[in-house]
Amino acid sequence: MTGIASHEQISALIRHRRSIKPVDMDATRSVERELLSHVLEDATWAPTHGLTEPWKFIVHQGASRQRLAEAMQKVYRQTTPAHEFREDKMKKMGENPLLSAVVIAAVMERRGGDKIPEIEEIEAVACALQNLQLSASAAGLACYWSSPPLLGTPAFAEWLQIGAEDRCVGLIYLGWPRVGLNWPRSVRKPVETKTLWRDD
Ligand SMILES: Cc1cc2nc3c(=O)[nH]c(=O)nc-3n(C[C@H](O)[C@H](O)[C@H](O)COP(=O)(O)O)c2cc1C
Repeated sequence: MTGIASHEQISALIRHRRSIKPVDMDATRSVERELLSHVLEDATWAPTHGLTEPWKFIVHQGASRQRLAEAMQKVYRQTTPAHEFREDKMKKMGENPLLSAVVIAAVMERRGGDKIPEIEEIEAVACALQNLQLSASAAGLACYWSSPPLLGTPAFAEWLQIGAEDRCVGLIYLGWPRVGLNWPRSVRKPVETKTLWRDD
């Protein structure tokens, strides 16, 4: 089909995508609204049971990143038992949103009623986030999916102003890679170790 990337190109993109942490992003370089909208629209072409499209993207840029950082630190302080509290995590929560140009709170909005099980709505959002990451990678952006436990707390949900049945499934940090970054490499186990063939 014309206009569709080849199988080789798609495989190369899938293998090229890496988690790149905010510390390796260029916070001084903004991401154009048009590009962000393009990437978000690609996210929405994910499969969705019953076409509920259960995703909501709360996009933090500019000063709202500071408010997000402060909210995370406050909720972390309030909800973490003393023996689990880590000063280094607290510090990172304050720094990370300012190190990347964009932080997207990816929310599963419960829209399917009882018809669609909650897990399937979360799975659909995960598919959307993979689309988002692949699209961002194709554009040359760095991205990183972070899921600190505080995302699941009522206090953070209240701060995000999401419904009681909704769930923030991740923070997606996005930005241009910092100058001189060596694009990270990764490994995967051979697929044969994860495959059971039943041919007869
Ligand atoms: C649902 C989900 C949640 C994740 N949460 C975190 C996280 O909280 N912290 C983190 O360092 N990486 C997180 N990651 C990213 C993984 O660490 C990363 O995908 C893994 O190390 C493989 O590296 P790669 O993405 O470069 O292939 C998450 C990934 C997924 C799919």
